[in-house]
Parts: sequence; structure tokens; C-alpha cells
Amino acid sequence: MLIQRPKGTKDLLPEDTFKLQYIEEKIKNVLENYGFGEIRVPVFEHTELFQRGVGETTDVVQKEMYTFEDKGGRSITLRPEGTAGAIRAYLENGMANRPSPVKLWYNMAMYRYENVQKGRLREFHQIGVEVVGASSYLADVETILLGKRMFDALGIKNIKINLNSIGCPKCRGEYQKILKEFIGKNLDNYCDTCKSRFEKNPMRILDCKEEKCKKLNIGAPKMIDYLCEECQTHFNNVRSALNAQGVSFEIDSNIVRGLDYYTKTVFEFINGKNGLTVLGGGRYDGLVQELGGTYTPAVGFATGIERLVEMFEEANKDLLQEKTPNLYILSVGNEENKKAIQIAEDLRDNNIYVERDLFERSFKSQMKYADKINAKFLLVIGENELITNKAKIKNMSNGEEIDVILDSKNILNIIK
Ligand code: HAM
Repeated sequence: MLIQRPKGTKDLLPEDTFKLQYIEEKIKNVLENYGFGEIRVPVFEHTELFQRGVGETTDVVQKEMYTFEDKGGRSITLRPEGTAGAIRAYLENGMANRPSPVKLWYNMAMYRYENVQKGRLREFHQIGVEVVGASSYLADVETILLGKRMFDALGIKNIKINLNSIGCPKCRGEYQKILKEFIGKNLDNYCDTCKSRFEKNPMRILDCKEEKCKKLNIGAPKMIDYLCEECQTHFNNVRSALNAQGVSFEIDSNIVRGLDYYTKTVFEFINGKNGLTVLGGGRYDGLVQELGGTYTPAVGFATGIERLVEMFEEANKDLLQEKTPNLYILSVGNEENKKAIQIAEDLRDNNIYVERDLFERSFKSQMKYADKINAKFLLVIGENELITNKAKIKNMSNGEEIDVILDSKNILNIIK
């Protein structure tokens, strides 16, 4: 019996990686223009990093982590997200001594034991950014503009940007009291997960997907109405600067985000077609301190690549075709093959994509193959061509034949 890949994972075939590389290249270009440097951190970390960083009461930590004991008895977890690891690396490598803010980006696989469904995998990939050290609303604005520019660069227009502020520990404390009063009246009717969150993290109850809890949450007090003066000013500034740049967004007071480290501004980019969140992020002013550093405010986001690719395909139906060979060199016989190899290698030195036979196939089956792989030009090297050092190059799209001297420079001039 064939062994199948684990549920919630994907294989990427050449036609997939081809698209992915195009997307990654475009995004990398945008990131470089905003001054971000790439970081790569281990795929597994000490479990404690995520418990402390992401938060004990989150779904991610409570239900979704791939945690195991290694042979040395340490508790290890496959990273479910990138921010905790990036900040650990920031602290461990003394990056706090670099000019501030430190702007990092990553493109990494993440692991969450989730209920697999459309757009929800167990191994998925994120491109994320972290701007570490800047407390001003300007960093939030630049981060959101960067996110938007990434989508623009990929020709993706069908997104909605949702924004919220979840305040700071100061105003959130006050708000949580009021929220608890509201939820407390009906607590018995909420699901067990909500009940378990009531004491430690009541805001997460607002994010519950259970229908009965959603109903009970109608009319709940909103964090945005209880922001302290500093958080209110910060949020107003973010909104006004985004408006000034012509960015359309909506305030969605239900965004609480699934990870505990967020403060102040939070945002999500939503796929206008299926409602899935394709990018999520926000400010997280307390995380660096939580992980043992000095108080260092930060903001960032991550976009789910699988969800992004789907939107990209939708928006660019005709744009991407797999790379096809510039030239197929058809040759039969040892001496002919030697010549064909030499010309192929010379052309590849000039960055030309050349295919040739690796099976000692017949003339006819090589012709068929060149056609199948959509070679743009065809060069035939037979006995006659070897003797005269002359050949014909056929333009496969219109059938036109051009005489050439069997020399890579001449060939290059025709097929370039
Ligand atoms: P997150 O909202 O958990 O945030 O994930 C960010 C994005 O990753 C989501 O919007 C979604 O596109 C994608 N994603 C999440 N889970 C899955 C899944 N199971 N399958 C497929 N795609 C998924 C974070 O992870 C934060 N670390 C983002 C951040 C960076 N905040 C500040 N800096």
C-alpha cells in the first residue's frame, strides 16, 4: 500500500513552486524597499517560548501545538507561528543593540494541529514581518501600507482591510471588568471553552465561533469604546494616516486575534471572495519583555502563503505560464550528441533554457517530446549538419525555418 502524506499537509509540485517563486520574488522586492532583512529561526523551539509568548489561554497553545519530548527529556514544540521565535532570536543575538527599529521578515513553515478544512492546514507557510523597537503609530501605518503593497504587487485587489484596537494592559483591565459583568450574566449558557476563559481571558470569548456563544455576545461592550487616552490617540492617528494615504479599511470591533501578545492596533486582511483571513497582525508592545528583554514595543503581521497563492491564482488567471524551453536540440548518434551537448552547454552559459534528449530516443519520439514540452525553437543536428556545419532552426509557433551555422553565437542571435 502507498504511504500517504499526513492530513493537513501539501506536496508542492514544480508547477506550484514555480508560482510560489514568482510570488516570493515580488514580495521580497517590496520588503527590501521597506528595509527589511530576512531571518530564519529553528523549526522547533522550547515549548515554554510559545506558552509564554503566544499565551497559555490561546487555542494555539491549548489545543494546536505539535509538542513532544526529545530524547533528552526536553519539551519541544514545532513552531505554530513566527513572532515568538523571531523575538527570541532578536534577544538572543543582541539585536537590541542595532539601530532601532529592527525590521525582520521571514518565510517559514508553521505547524498547528487544527481541524483541517478549506484554507486551514496543519503544515502551512507564512511570510511575516516584525518591526521591533518603534512605539509610534507611524510604525503601525507603515506596516499596514507594506502589507497592502504586497497584495498590490501581486495584482490582488479583492481584499478588505479590517482594523481594531484592543488597548493596552491598563485600559484592557478596566474593559475586562465591564465585559465580565456582561458575559457573567449568561455565563452558564456559554460553551465550555468560553467558560474556561472567563477568568483569565474574557476577550477571547468574543472570538468564539459557536453559534450559541455568538448570539450571547450580541450587544457586548466594545474595547474600542473603553480605550485610555493614549490608546485612543494612537488609534485615531493610525486611522487618519491611513485615510490620508487613500487606504480603505473598516473598523471591526470583533477582531481580538488568536494570540495573546497583541496590544493597541490589530488588523486583518480578508479575502473578499471567501471571507478567509489572508493576513493578520498588530502591535505587541509587551512581548519582548515577556520573553526576558527590556520593554521594547513592536508591530508585525504574517500572511498565510497558501491562502495568498489562492488569491493570486484568482487574480492572475492568464499571467503565469510555466517556463518553456527556448530551444530543443534534437540529435541522434554519438557524434551528433557530442555536438548537441556542446551547443546546449554554451547556450546555458548564456542563461538560455535548453532541453535535449537524455534517453537516446528516436528522431520521431524526440520531435513529439519537443512539441509536448512547448519548446519555442527546434534545432536538428544530424549527420549532414555535422559535415556541413550548417543547420536549420525551426520556430515552433509559426513553422518558419532559419538557416544557421552550427555555432552557439549564431544560434543565440536567432532564439534570443
Ligand atoms: P495568525 O493570525 O495566527 O497570526 O496567522 C497569520 C496568517 O497565517 C493567517 O491570517 C492565515 O492567513 C495564516 N494561517 C494561520 N493558520 C493557518 C492554517 N492552519 N492554515 C493555513 N493558513 C493559516 C500569526 O501567526 C502572527 N504571528 C502574525 C504576526 C506577526 N503578528 C505580529 N507579527
